[in-house]
Amino acid sequence: MKKPQLVWDIKPVSYILGKDAVKLSKKRLEEYNKRIVLVDENTQRHCLPVFEEQMEGFDIDGVIIIKANASNKSIDQTVHVWNELSRLGAERDTLLINLGGGVVSDLGGFAAATFKRGINFVNFPTSLLGMVDAAIGGKTGLDFGGIKNQVGLFINPVCVIIDPVFLKTLDQKQLLSGYAELLKCGLIMDKDLWETVENVRYNSVEEWDSLIVQSARNKVDIVRHDTYEKGLRKILNFGHTVGHAIESFLINKGLDITHGEAVAAGMICETYISSKFYEFECTRIKEIINTIDNNFDRFDLKKEDIPVLLELMQHDKKNKDGKYHFSLLRRLGKAVHDIEVDDDLIRESIEFYIEKKECESEEDNS
Ligand SMILES: NC(=O)c1ccc[n+]([C@@H]2O[C@H](COP(=O)([O-])OP(=O)(O)OC[C@H]3O[C@@H](n4cnc5c(N)ncnc54)[C@H](O)[C@@H]3O)[C@@H](O)[C@H]2O)c1
Repeated sequence: MKKPQLVWDIKPVSYILGKDAVKLSKKRLEEYNKRIVLVDENTQRHCLPVFEEQMEGFDIDGVIIIKANASNKSIDQTVHVWNELSRLGAERDTLLINLGGGVVSDLGGFAAATFKRGINFVNFPTSLLGMVDAAIGGKTGLDFGGIKNQVGLFINPVCVIIDPVFLKTLDQKQLLSGYAELLKCGLIMDKDLWETVENVRYNSVEEWDSLIVQSARNKVDIVRHDTYEKGLRKILNFGHTVGHAIESFLINKGLDITHGEAVAAGMICETYISSKFYEFECTRIKEIINTIDNNFDRFDLKKEDIPVLLELMQHDKKNKDGKYHFSLLRRLGKAVHDIEVDDDLIRESIEFYIEKKECESEEDNS
């Protein structure tokens, strides 16, 4: 009998991480006939000049500009990108270069993957959140019907280039947003990273490069093993079940909040829930919550908001059979996924957040 033949193989995505990554990527990008850059209004102003300087002599065949900020990760903006790709004559061998934060990489990836049944794209994250999270792992999409990431695809860019050079112009609010994902990464899988970040407030970090590389590597390791989020990858959603509901709720009310701020709030609630499933010393819970509180102000949520938040959580993609499924902390540096949590405990965790309650325990032997 003939040996089986490999007839199809998925090309792996390349990651270039750290200082001078942009310069290093130039050769790779020059393989494409046509190169179109996607930016938002802010990254056009702040990051495109840096990109052009780093990629000296690199030809760009067009620039597409979308509106900045999370409320614009919309179908209207995607239609705009498709129109612009058509106007610029994009073909199947065109490369779309996503230069921006999570909105640009999520929306640009989706627009590229659906234009002419898919053109290649690369991500150059320019926000801290993009560098440690959004640009990695092949999730693309849009918010739709008032729900985060309701429409989208798993599709990998050909390359992700993570270079802290872009961070110089990122404002404090956005830096803080990315910092929340660094905290999460430490909590779920990297105790050393947690111990480094918990002892420094986000606005006193002097050396982002190594933290970014460490955190990005962690995420790359996870998505390499579980691209389609069938298992392990779900741990990355710690803080996101409650966090996404809070994010949608407050954005729908017209508040200008960031993804990271919402995830920080979600992590407080979900640390509380974790402590009800697994043995957690009170000092540990306090340590986690104090670290978050030292960096993030609490949102002014009301008890009356809880039913709406629960309703929003029903759309969470981790749910099964109409039941809420969470990723929780088993202990510091280790997370578990697919844990069914009932309404009452979720409600209690949001009350814990709203009322700034303290952990209570009869015995604390830490
Ligand atoms: N695909 C994923 O796996 C994934 C993971 C996490 C978050 N996300 C998504 O990412 C989005 C949030 O990403 P984000 O926080 O990067 O938001 P963002 O893309 O809106 O960027 C935040 C703001 O910073 C500006 N900005 C970005 N880089 C800059 C720079 N270097 N200098 C000056 N300004 C700069 C942007 O213009 C924007 O105003 C959300 O839509 C979220 O759902 C996706």
